[in-house]
Amino acid sequence: MGLASITLQINGENRVVAIREADTLLFVLREKLGLTGSKPGCLNGDCGACTVNLDGWPMKSCLILAVETAGHYILTIEGLKNTRIQEAFVEEFAFQCGYCTSGFIMNGYSLSQLYPHAHSTQIQEWFESNICRCTGYEEIEKAIRRVLNENNNL
Ligand code: FES
Ligand code: FES
Repeated sequence: MGLASITLQINGENRVVAIREADTLLFVLREKLGLTGSKPGCLNGDCGACTVNLDGWPMKSCLILAVETAGHYILTIEGLKNTRIQEAFVEEFAFQCGYCTSGFIMNGYSLSQLYPHAHSTQIQEWFESNICRCTGYEEIEKAIRRVLNENNNL
């Protein structure tokens, strides 16, 4: 199968990249564009480590082909540098090894944008799509709640 050139809109920039039709978005982000913040875990949609945002919604980048994302707005963890949600994870010590963290932050960012008044049960249900093997989910929920509370007090 040959390579074809496509343009992806990632973190506000147009990136031209040569891909094969079968390349997943996760593969292209990491191996072709050097955006290694999205992590490969299970590679079958279970762990959430590879989560990015597609047009504002969380998307597991191991489950979508890069070619399908042309014409859509892709946000990766690199696009959330120095944002409040990143700081909140640090303030609440919401990570240990950190391998799952970018996926949690991306998913939490979507939640804060789409459901800014989410309550505790909604937060827990929202994060059922992400798995952390080594820290407590309580700190992660606290970090998200901190961001939601701050937004709601504006
Ligand atoms: S690597 Fe995509 S969900 Fe696990
Ligand atoms: S902090 Fe290690 S897997 Fe989540």
